[in-house]
Amino acid sequence: MGFEKRILCIGAGYVGGPTMAMIAHKCPQYRVTVVDIDHERIARWNSDDLPIFEPGLDEVVKAARGRNLFFSTEIEREIEASEIIFVSVNTPTKAFGAGAGMAADLQYWDRTARQIREHARSHKIIVEKSTLPVKTAQAMERILTAEDNGVGFDVLSNPEFLAEGTAIKDLEDPDRVLIGSRQTPEGLKARDTLVEIYANWVPRERIICSNIWSSELSKLVANAFLAQRISSINSISALCEKADADVQEVARAVGMDSRVGDRFLNASVGFGGSCFKKDILNLVYICRHYDLNEVADYWEGVIRINDFQKERFILNMLDVMFNTLAQKRICLLGFAFKADTGDTRESPAIFVAKRLVEERATVVITDPKALDNAREDLKELGGEISFVEDPYQACAGSCAIAVMTEWGIYRGLDFERIYRSMSKPAFVFDGRNILDHEGLFQIGFNVFPIGKPGRTHF
Ligand code: UDX
Repeated sequence: MGFEKRILCIGAGYVGGPTMAMIAHKCPQYRVTVVDIDHERIARWNSDDLPIFEPGLDEVVKAARGRNLFFSTEIEREIEASEIIFVSVNTPTKAFGAGAGMAADLQYWDRTARQIREHARSHKIIVEKSTLPVKTAQAMERILTAEDNGVGFDVLSNPEFLAEGTAIKDLEDPDRVLIGSRQTPEGLKARDTLVEIYANWVPRERIICSNIWSSELSKLVANAFLAQRISSINSISALCEKADADVQEVARAVGMDSRVGDRFLNASVGFGGSCFKKDILNLVYICRHYDLNEVADYWEGVIRINDFQKERFILNMLDVMFNTLAQKRICLLGFAFKADTGDTRESPAIFVAKRLVEERATVVITDPKALDNAREDLKELGGEISFVEDPYQACAGSCAIAVMTEWGIYRGLDFERIYRSMSKPAFVFDGRNILDHEGLFQIGFNVFPIGKPGRTHF
């Protein structure tokens, strides 16, 4: 069967995989291939056990796989065969050398650009899909055109705004699709090609275009703004706990101002995820590069409050549990950085588990989807840690429960039964404010939510 276009995505991760599955699902007239250097990951994309958990993803992949969606490790052959190449390789925070702990590590991205240059035999549209610091589209262009291989490249920026756990919904019905291009005739033509792809299912008025740098910067700024809202409400949660106010009541009153809006105002043990911290650090790095130190300090404050919030959670536990956690069994309900994902990157639960081990507590971790990742995250930690699938078993014998992830199933647990199985006095630290605090107190728990004064029976 002849396909109208051949689309390739390099990188089969949390962004590349679901995004390409959605394009293939919505556009049967295109042939879509996702490649990765990781053979095991590709094998899983080709199996019934996909490498990432996302509600609705299985159905979308099953509908298109083998028809016009393919997963492969033959990167070079696919580069040659495709007209449009999405680059969605990971860009973690650099762990070495200049900018370590701050700048993005671009080695995978750089290697990919060279690989494309080497194997392209015809004109290609390159779509930058990874979160990258601004100006990398230009760097990409420079690598691609450094050796004249007789073919042309147009580089577009098309940042992804999907959130994990709602990826399929976000892809199907995005608030906006952003495409950055050069403002030259060739750049605008390439842009229009990408607009046409999205227009298969996204209303035109939601497909917005800009220059490349605005597009790249928008992604960092959108994440910085979202994270800033959480740090803002988390900073207020600390005040509420002291001042006998209730952060949920404050958030509700503030969020009802339509200029502020009510989303992303849930106080928590802290934000996690692969993007917020990384993107803010990138923003800070870019600001420092331009000697905008006040601006850099401002955004860095968002991360400082997040660190403060996580540490505060531990210090509070210590304080109310009689200043020692040594030998005490503490159960973490949830380990993923948020509900409906198995992803644990930058999860506040990692920090909390580490600090608990430092305090010599016995840590029990339960999570419906993230236990494998949790094991991996904590494998070098030592200390007393166990991983238990069943939440009732995990809580049994514990002195305290700490809610780390807002999984819906935790709301429906039988806390009377859990209370009976625990060591007394029993504590609940609700790092996500999802439980019925009054009900728990009535059962006999000492209850410590975020942003409201705690209640004890002693
Ligand atoms: C985020 C952006 O939302 C998305 O647009 C971007 O493309 C990638 O980064 P994601 O990391 O998947 O998506 O998760 P998100 O839902 O934004 O949550 C991030 C963290 O903030 C989680 O740890 C979450 O639990 C926490 N959070 C969120 C709060 O603590 N309070 C809130 O009110 C909202």
